[in-house]
Amino acid sequence: MEKHEAAFNALIEQDLKIEPHDWMPDEYRKHLIRQVSQHAHSEVIGMQPEGNWLLRAPSLRSKQVLLAKIQDEGGHGLYLYSVAETLNVSREELITQLHEGKARYSSVFNYPTLNWADIGAIGWLVDGAAIVNQVSLQRTSYGPYSRGMVRICMEESFHQRQGYEIMIHMARGTKEQREMAQDAVNRFWFPALMMFGPHDTDSAHTGNAMKWKIKRESNDYLRQKFIDKTVPQVEFLGLTVPDPNCRLNETTGSYEHSPLDWNEFHDVINGYGPCNTDRLDHHRLVHQENKWVREAAVAYAQKTETVNSSI
Ligand code: 3HC
Repeated sequence: MEKHEAAFNALIEQDLKIEPHDWMPDEYRKHLIRQVSQHAHSEVIGMQPEGNWLLRAPSLRSKQVLLAKIQDEGGHGLYLYSVAETLNVSREELITQLHEGKARYSSVFNYPTLNWADIGAIGWLVDGAAIVNQVSLQRTSYGPYSRGMVRICMEESFHQRQGYEIMIHMARGTKEQREMAQDAVNRFWFPALMMFGPHDTDSAHTGNAMKWKIKRESNDYLRQKFIDKTVPQVEFLGLTVPDPNCRLNETTGSYEHSPLDWNEFHDVINGYGPCNTDRLDHHRLVHQENKWVREAAVAYAQKTETVNSSI
């Protein structure tokens, strides 16, 4: 064990990647499975709030753009479930945990999308927060996760821009559209800040995550980075940050803000958010309805394998 642990620690120390065939501590593997599972489920569940607006998109172009974005998210989920499989956990096992309410996914997706401005706010704020988190994760110590992040980050910037484009149209539109845009910011601002997780001092996992270089920056560091980047964007839209205590600290160059409502955070991540039941019911239903697709894909793969092995 000592020899293996020394080799593992040396790889981490030298900022080299841990690959699936490398020895790794069980705790490192379990930590990664937990986080990658949460990440993969978030990508797929995150398709639902936006998917609700595909049939109600205001133009063919906006429908095409939203469809492309949602398809990207499904692909991100597939990359991440594949990363989890390199850690010897099956996709079926992760999906079962999700269906049994034993798996995490990003709390922000448990809020409803009430109108088209919400689709803009999700693309701009939620994907914007995801970009800040995922750019940092490009340097995570686990090789397959790091490489998956590089690919995902390329697509996220399109997601953030399409959301901000919607917000620009709404903020420069009619009085009603401006009010819808402001209302969307009001409802998604704090849930987007919660995407970065609890404060570092309250985080059960950040200590190990930083020790093993799974996380390269802490929850609070990345949250502040997102706030500092996004407040000027709110102001450019002519909208206001729904936080009376949000103000620029001239000395630090960062924005101060009100404390987050961690009771709401824990309620939502523990299943008591506005849409938790709908999100899981829908996922269970669609998973069952599309069982035939998975079975056909497996049958085809087995047939192809049989044919190839007989040549
Ligand atoms: N929603 C749900 N659960 C959350 C959460 C959130 N916003 N933030 C933290 N949690 C959970 C953690 O999963 C952990 O749960 P557990 O102990 O039951 O496993 C607990 O709260 C404690 O939080 P920690 O900060 O100690 O946990 P982590 O070290 O795992 O850090 C994290 C939390 C920063 C979210 C980290 O897991 C992470 O970076 N995850 C991957 C990135 C991610 O989830 N991105 C957003 C979703 S993808 C997306 O937005 C798609 C976009 O394209 C639309």
